[in-house]
Amino acid sequence: MSFTTQPAAPARSNRCQLFGPGSRDALFEKMAASAADVINLDLEDSVAPSDKEKARANVIAATHDIDWGNKHLSVRINPLDSGEWYQDVVALLEQGGERLDQIMIPKAGCAADIYAVDALVTSIEMAQGRKKKIAFEVIIETAAGIAHVEEIAAASPRLQAMSLGAADFAASLGMQTTGIGGTQENYYMHRAGEKYWSDPWHWAQASIVAACRTHGILPVDGPFGDFSDDEGFRAQARRSATLGMVGKWAIHPKQVALANEVFTPTAEAVAEAKAIIAAMEEAKANGLGATVFNGKLIDIASIKQCEVIVRQAELAAGK
Ligand code: COA
Ligand code: MG
Repeated sequence: MSFTTQPAAPARSNRCQLFGPGSRDALFEKMAASAADVINLDLEDSVAPSDKEKARANVIAATHDIDWGNKHLSVRINPLDSGEWYQDVVALLEQGGERLDQIMIPKAGCAADIYAVDALVTSIEMAQGRKKKIAFEVIIETAAGIAHVEEIAAASPRLQAMSLGAADFAASLGMQTTGIGGTQENYYMHRAGEKYWSDPWHWAQASIVAACRTHGILPVDGPFGDFSDDEGFRAQARRSATLGMVGKWAIHPKQVALANEVFTPTAEAVAEAKAIIAAMEEAKANGLGATVFNGKLIDIASIKQCEVIVRQAELAAGK
C-alpha cells in the first residue's frame, strides 16, 4: 500500500439496483417485493416532462407508505442543468420520510455538482432536524463525468456508489450506437475472415472502478437495455464483476435474478477462496510467503484476492 491507505467501501450488498419510474406508482409494491438490494425510484428520464410533479408526489408518499424491508432506498433526482433538481431535493427532504436512504445524482460532470447538492441537502437536514444523513450515489454518463471521475468520487463523504450510465454516456461521447450496454455490433477486430467483438465500455468501467476503490465507493454497472437477452446481460455482468464492480442495474424485474446470480459468489468460488486462505495460513506458519495450490502459485496477495470473494458472499448472505 501507499502511505495513503485504501478506504473500505460501504459494507452493504449492492448486487442489483431495480429501477422504476416515479410516475408508475403501481410498480412500487412489486419493487418492494423484489429480490433487489437497492431500489431506485426515478424522477428523471423515465418520467415524462408532464408527469414530473405527479412522480415527485408518488415518490414522497412511497417513502412513508411502502414497506421497503431491508432494501436500500434511493431516488434519482433530475440533473443539475434542469429546473427541477432543487425542487426534487427540497420536496424529498422536507416532505419525504426518514426511510429514504439515498439520492442518486445523474449526469454528474464535476465535483462541484456534488458539492451543490450536498450544500442544499445539508441545509435542509439542519433546518428540518432530520436524524438520518442522506447518502449519495452518482451516475457517470457524460464526457465530463468520465473525464473528472476521480474528483467526483472524492467529492462528498455522503457518496456511497457510482454507476456507469451507458445510454447517456454513449450519446455524450458521440458513440454511433443505439444499444444500451453490452456487445456493440460494430466494435470488432477482424482477422482471417473472422470477427472478434471487443468491449467499448471497458475503459470507462475500469476508470470508474479505480476512482471508486481509491475513495471507498461502490462501483456499479448501469443498465442493459435488451431485457429479452439474458445471456447478453450475464456476459456484461460477468465482465463487470471481473473488473471489480459489485452490482448492476435492473431496468426490468426479470433482470434482478440475473444480477443477483452473477454478483453472488458461488458456493464453489467461496470454498476455493477459503481453501486458498487456509493454504496460505499454513504456508505462513511454515515460514513461506508463496506456495502451490492445485498446481498454481499462490502468495500473500492471494489472501487479499480471496477475501474480496468471501466478503462479497458474506454481504450477500446478509440480505
Ligand atoms: N419494477 C417492478 N415490476 C415491474 C417493473 C419494474 N421496474 N416493470 C414492470 N414490472 C412488472 C409489471 O407490472 C408486470 O407485472 P404483472 O406480471 O404483475 O402484470 C411484470 O413486471 C411484467 O412487466 P412487462 O409487461 O414485461 O413490462 P412493462 O411493459 O410494464 O414495462 C418497462 C417495461 C421497461 C417500461 C418497465 O419495466 C420500466 O419502466 N422499467 C424501468 C425503467 C426505468 O426506470 N428507467 C430508468 C433507468 S434506465
Ligand atoms: Mg441517464
